[in-house]
Amino acid sequence: MKLAINKIHLGDARDLLAKVELNSIACSVWSPPYFVGKQYEKYLSYEEWISLLRAVIRHHQFLLKPGGFLVINIADILCFADESMPRIQAQNIRRQRCTVTREDVLQAKAHHPDYNRYDLAKLLGCSEQTIDRRLNGNNIRGGKYNTQTRVHLVGSIIESAATEAGLYLYDRRVWVKDAAWENSKWHTLSYRSVDEFEYLYFFWKPGETVVDRHRLTPDEWVEWGSRGVWNIPSVRANNDHEAKFPIELPRRIIKLLTDPGDIVLDCFMGSGSSAVAAIREKRNYIGIELEPKYVEIATRSCVQESEKMALFAQSNINKGSQPNEHTAIQLNGHKQLSLLNEV
Ligand SMILES: C[S@@+](CC[C@H](N)C(=O)[O-])C[C@H]1O[C@@H](n2cnc3c(N)ncnc32)[C@H](O)[C@@H]1O
Repeated sequence: MKLAINKIHLGDARDLLAKVELNSIACSVWSPPYFVGKQYEKYLSYEEWISLLRAVIRHHQFLLKPGGFLVINIADILCFADESMPRIQAQNIRRQRCTVTREDVLQAKAHHPDYNRYDLAKLLGCSEQTIDRRLNGNNIRGGKYNTQTRVHLVGSIIESAATEAGLYLYDRRVWVKDAAWENSKWHTLSYRSVDEFEYLYFFWKPGETVVDRHRLTPDEWVEWGSRGVWNIPSVRANNDHEAKFPIELPRRIIKLLTDPGDIVLDCFMGSGSSAVAAIREKRNYIGIELEPKYVEIATRSCVQESEKMALFAQSNINKGSQPNEHTAIQLNGHKQLSLLNEV
C-alpha cells in the first residue's frame, strides 16, 4: 500500500520511502540527524549515519517528480571526535594564573639538566603540572587523555550520495541562524568561530522544471528568493523537540519550488515544521518520523494549522470572497486531518 498524503507516518525512512508513490513528490525538504550526539540519533554509529543518509537519498531518484527537488538542511560537524588527532590542549595565556613562562622552565632545565619536573617546580615555585604544561602544552590532569575534536565537512557525503542517485546539485544556500554561544565550549579556548550557520543543498531530478517567478511577490524575490544567504532566527523554544528548524525555512523552500496542491515530503519530520509550512502554503504533505512522540507532536501541529487555515478560509467566504481551488484543497486537507485526529 502507498503512503497516504496529509499524514505523518510512524517508521524508519529507509523502509517507508519505498512506499511513496513513484514520481509524485514535487519537493522533498528535510533535516536529518547531524551526528552531533542528540538523543534521537544515539542509535547510529558514524558508519550507520552515513549509510542512513545514502539510503534515504537513493530513494529520491524514484519518488521525486521529474524536474522536482530534494532540499537538505544540514550543518558541518564542528566537534567531530578524531582518535588520530594529537592530544595537545590549548593554552589560554590570558587565563594563566602562574607567571612562570616556558622560557623560565627551559632556562632552569639548561642550568640543571638532571632535574625532573618535581625539582624544577620546587626551584621555580610552581606546581609540577605547570612545568608539564609549559613544556608539553597539555594538561596532565586529563585534557591530554580526551579524544580531540575537529571540524568535519558533510557536504561531500551528501553530494556524492545524490550524484550516485542521479540527482544534480542545483544550488546551495546558507541559513544564518542565531549564534549558539552556549553550545560553543571552545570559543574562549581556541580561534574557532561560534556555530551560527547551516547549509541548504538543492538537488534536482532531471526533467522539465517550471520556473514561475509569480510564486513570490517582487519583494520576496528581492529579499530572499534570489539571495544565497537567508537570515532566519532560530526557534526560541525547543521544548518539544531538540532540533526544530524555524517554519520560515521550509516555507520559503516550498513557496519557491512548488505550486499549491503539490506534494511535499519530509522523511525526518521531527516536530512537524515542514508539514505546517506546507499547509500554510496550501500544499499537500507526507511526513515520516521514527519516534512515536514526535509523530504525535507533528500530527497535533498539523491539525491545529489546518484548523486555523480552514477558519481563515471560512471567514473569507463569510466576508463574500469566493472559495477558490486552493481554499478547497485546504478544507479537504483539514477534513482528512480531523478524521485522523478522531481515530
Ligand atoms: C534534525 S531532526 C528534524 C527536525 C525537524 N526538521 C523539525 O523542525 O522538527 C531529525 C529527526 O529525524 C528523526 N529520525 C532519526 N532517524 C530516523 C529514521 N531512520 N527515519 C525517520 N526519522 C528518523 C529523529 O527522531 C528526529 O526527529
